[in-house]
Amino acid sequence: MKNRITSLFGIKYPIISGGMVWCSGWQLAAAVSNAGGLGLIGAGSMTADILREHIQKCKAATDKPFGVNVPLMYHHSEAMMEVIIAEKVPVVFTSAGSPKTWTRKLQENGSKVAHVVASTKFAIKCEEAGVDAIVAEGFEAGGHNGREETTTMVLIPQVRKAISTPLIAAGGIATGEGMLAAIALGAEGIQMGTRFALSQESSASEEFKNLCINLQEGDTILSLKKVSPTRLIKNEFYKEVEEAENKGASADDIRTILGHGRSKKGIFEGDLVNGELEIGQISSIIKDIPTVKAIMEQIVEEYNARLKWIQGD
Ligand SMILES: Cc1cc2nc3c(=O)[nH]c(=O)nc-3n(C[C@H](O)[C@H](O)[C@H](O)COP(=O)(O)O)c2cc1C
Repeated sequence: MKNRITSLFGIKYPIISGGMVWCSGWQLAAAVSNAGGLGLIGAGSMTADILREHIQKCKAATDKPFGVNVPLMYHHSEAMMEVIIAEKVPVVFTSAGSPKTWTRKLQENGSKVAHVVASTKFAIKCEEAGVDAIVAEGFEAGGHNGREETTTMVLIPQVRKAISTPLIAAGGIATGEGMLAAIALGAEGIQMGTRFALSQESSASEEFKNLCINLQEGDTILSLKKVSPTRLIKNEFYKEVEEAENKGASADDIRTILGHGRSKKGIFEGDLVNGELEIGQISSIIKDIPTVKAIMEQIVEEYNARLKWIQGD
């Protein structure tokens, strides 16, 4: 598989593991990069010092390109960027903010920059900001999502038409068949979160992983819409939010219920009742917790088999 995404990042397969709070430390990122994809360290749940440690450990664990994801909504994103610039991280994926803020500075420092969006309008802004690649993410995805609730199937062909920058599809992709579908729609690579969150190398708790591989269709929902739309498992915490919203709770009321450290509690510490449990809709087809190497091999095999099937071989 050779295309603009593989040559941009210097990788074998156009498969990227998205930054994921409490899941994607250096172990996951290095494993994905070593298996021929592009592994991202998720800085969202780290302090600048912890991020530095993860970057250095990732450098020691792989000689392949890797990256860091920085959600720009956090107050300490500037401190993160200082670490990234000092460490000369080869690839940076920014999300949840403006692509204009950091793109040029990072590129001048030698990094390739991609930005994550949930709409065609923002994809055009990314192109104007001069990013090297755009991730268009449908709201099937785990984690924070677009308010407009556009699906990957609807989003990718429209973004493809609107921009000429290399395009990566995210949201609802966990198999080789899904990857082929995304490429058929006009993407040149895929970013997966949920599939890699449920791998051996993910730092999520065993409790969280085990719950996720037993989910059925309909067990996740876009919640916290008044604060920051996030796809969650329908646990007790979600029900509390929903009840409050039904009674007319304001954004501030919801912020009070949310408090601090809910996603750490749920994903990392395994509190399945009170934690904020972020995972994608596609979790309902995932029934195992393999190594990253096994996931990558299976995706490539499925991709090739389905391609042959389509061609009638
Ligand atoms: C547990 C979890 C945490 C996430 N945290 C982040 C994050 O910190 N920054 C970000 O840009 N995206 C985050 N995401 C989104 C992923 O990077 C990825 O784009 C998304 O999961 C793709 O959709 P999928 O879950 O259907 O594969 C998160 C996703 C999950 C499942």
